[in-house]
Amino acid sequence: MTPDRSAPRRRARLAALGGYAPARVVTNAEIERRVDTTDEWIRTRTGIRERRYAAPDETTADMAAVAAERVLASAGLPSAEVDMVIVPTATPDALFPATAAIVADRIGARRAAAYDLSAACSGFVYALAQATALVEAGMAGNVLVVGSEVLSRVTDHDDRATCILFADGAGGALVTAGDAETTTGFLAFDLGADGSGADQLVLPVGGDRRLAAAGGAPADACIRMDGPAVFRFATRVMVESAQRLLDGLSMGIADIDLVVAHQANSRIMDHAAERLGIPPERLFNNLELFGNTSSASIPMALAQARDAGRLSPGDMLLLVGFGGGLTWASSVVRYEPLGEEHQWA
Ligand code: COA
Repeated sequence: MTPDRSAPRRRARLAALGGYAPARVVTNAEIERRVDTTDEWIRTRTGIRERRYAAPDETTADMAAVAAERVLASAGLPSAEVDMVIVPTATPDALFPATAAIVADRIGARRAAAYDLSAACSGFVYALAQATALVEAGMAGNVLVVGSEVLSRVTDHDDRATCILFADGAGGALVTAGDAETTTGFLAFDLGADGSGADQLVLPVGGDRRLAAAGGAPADACIRMDGPAVFRFATRVMVESAQRLLDGLSMGIADIDLVVAHQANSRIMDHAAERLGIPPERLFNNLELFGNTSSASIPMALAQARDAGRLSPGDMLLLVGFGGGLTWASSVVRYEPLGEEHQWA
């Protein structure tokens, strides 16, 4: 892309959504057959009933490309108009080339610049912040942000503390330049990192496509997690970050139409909902069917909320991500779609 530095003042707009879930459904019953756990334990401690796994030949880029195409179809935007593709992911196809470059090529976004972003489960909202900055600085007009993960390939399927949680999928959004007079767009971000908790959630390897042939990463290269410590961090940071944003905007939870948080554990979301006073109908939860898909979880949830009629044009959203790093990232944004087409299925 060639940055247009002469652009007039404009606001970044959340203009389209799209998601993709791989076909293979893995139920709690299937996990019960491999490790010492029960469907009841998993459902009551996490809210998860089933999750999706990528096909053996399916990679992070493959899933991201499908989600990206759905975002563009939803917006009615030709891929040639995309200036930048950002793929937040913890499981890139390789350290280089960037998965985003593969996605840009796959969807025909010939003039787009492309890079990956590493902020674990906070990655999608971090990437939205970058997209906003690029658009509002006049560096880009249309930025595609696509979170995509093949966590099943880097999960130790004999570790009952993690194999119940992590799953695969992709979801994306188009951030586009809106007229400053008429666009609300992204009102605020709250981003943070606390590396003192770096060892509480660790993934030593990425999503190398050769791992599929090898049946996944070796156990000592898979996700390691101090579950209770991450749980304490997540419940604290979700409340604090959301409250900081709302206070900074002189807004209350009553001004928010829908809260879409990182889908890690229903108990984390329920705790935050209670502390922040979020009524159940304004908290979106798709954990039951999709588990924790890291950087893909918020955009998958957004696309599903839209398709389920829970997210309408003009709605004010509160997005909250948290995860490895430890990191967190939240935003308040009005959903201002270009198109109405529903693309999830
Ligand atoms: N099935 C049955 N028992 C299990 C189990 C499973 N799948 N996983 C752990 N247990 C056991 C533990 O061994 C422990 O047994 P013990 O008391 O005999 O030692 C007991 O359950 C309680 O373990 P604990 O780890 O304290 O459980 P928990 O209530 O904290 O739930 C998690 C475990 C992983 C579900 C929870 O800590 C969690 O969700 N943490 C946050 C994880 C997360 O969101 N990570 C990603 C953030 S992006």
